[in-house]
Amino acid sequence: RVDAEGEHYEIVQRVAAVEILPGLSTQIWGYNGSLPGPTIVSRSGRPVTVLHRNELPVPTVAHLHGGRTPAASDGYPTDLLLAAGSTGHAARMPAMSDPQAVITSGSRLYSYPLDQPAGTLWYHDHRMDFTGPSVWRGLAGFHLVTDAAEDAVPLPRGARDLPLMVMDRSFGPDGELLYPSVDPGLVTPGVTGGFGAGVLGDVILVNGAPWPVADVDAARYRLRLLNASNARRYRLVLDPPGALVQIGADGGLLERPVRHDAVELAPAQRLDVVVDFSGYPLGQDVTVLNTFGEGPTGRVMRFRVVRAATDDTAVPAALPGEPGLSPGPDAPARTMQFRHATVGGMAGWAVNGAPFTPGAVHARVRRGAVEVWRLASDFHHPIHLHGATFRVLARSNGGPGPYDAGWRDTLDLRPAEQATIAVRFGPDPGRYVFHCHNLEHEDMAMMGNVVIE
Ligand code: C2O
Ligand code: CU
Ligand code: CU
Repeated sequence: RVDAEGEHYEIVQRVAAVEILPGLSTQIWGYNGSLPGPTIVSRSGRPVTVLHRNELPVPTVAHLHGGRTPAASDGYPTDLLLAAGSTGHAARMPAMSDPQAVITSGSRLYSYPLDQPAGTLWYHDHRMDFTGPSVWRGLAGFHLVTDAAEDAVPLPRGARDLPLMVMDRSFGPDGELLYPSVDPGLVTPGVTGGFGAGVLGDVILVNGAPWPVADVDAARYRLRLLNASNARRYRLVLDPPGALVQIGADGGLLERPVRHDAVELAPAQRLDVVVDFSGYPLGQDVTVLNTFGEGPTGRVMRFRVVRAATDDTAVPAALPGEPGLSPGPDAPARTMQFRHATVGGMAGWAVNGAPFTPGAVHARVRRGAVEVWRLASDFHHPIHLHGATFRVLARSNGGPGPYDAGWRDTLDLRPAEQATIAVRFGPDPGRYVFHCHNLEHEDMAMMGNVVIE
């Protein structure tokens, strides 16, 4: 529904049986019963409300990842939308310890001002302690934002603008989703449950289909890559080789394109690339390989160049992305340590030595403030900040890495690394989380609170 107040959508979170593997039925938890959920396309500055109705057997929390969203609609992990028919007991555990929790039964209206540049956002579940299993079962969808500055650039659009949600999953012989499943080679010793590296699957899905094939014109395409995996990192290349020209990142378009032969994506990161299929002969198969994977996880999808085509698109040398920041010497500076910790005999993942509790505030910041944060790690941790966007200033081995361009909301923090980022906090006061987006690390409490004042 569209009216003077903006656009309104309704999404039902429900159990559904879908065919993911040929001939087999898979039960998912889906937004409107599908995986991915419905793609919402919005205009920058035009407010959107989404009424989420929960018909699942568990409480849920909807979060718009990448949205500049008031705290009340940001999907705080204890702001639960109760399960269908629930009496409230299901919400007792995490929410009871949080006096600010907002428990809603049945359905809840989320408001998104979308006062932000064009970009590739996504929405997913964010329930405290259970985000991993809920997203694994299918609670993820795209929310794209467009604006006039992007319209003015002759980028591929329409059928040549493809949002690609990449995720790994595991299936049992009947087609049911298996969670957890883990690659034993990647377990971090000493970490609870043996899932220290997070839960990995051995089937790569793109937009809910295993290793799909897409027929394309011999023309430029915009591929909006999203890593919606719980824990898997990807390094994507084309085979036969071809350029991946990056035009955007988490926070929208870059200021100028960056040409890559390979791109790396940590969980929750988005990378917008243009691929020119006119560089391949007609009839050619172009496979997207994941060089961080092996066997079945080494392949992602395939394009088949089937039609000659005219193409009036271009990737100009200047793109409308907002330039970076140079924080002054008096910008507030903080250090956040993302490490494994044993607290009270329980092994888990922590921020500055403490596991997440809703009441513990790691930083109080002023609205609109620019701060310098140093993030330090023991292991791979994709660090995501709500209520803020940032630029990567440096990594411990030098300057920003090849995939750090542009405005980000998720950083690929690597083992034993320190990264320095310039963070710009949003304009809305309230409590926001920041956390590791390896969803098993997040569920094992690698999360903190920022209060914007
Ligand atoms: Cu993608 Cu805290 O979320
Ligand atoms: Cu987010
Ligand atoms: Cu982590």
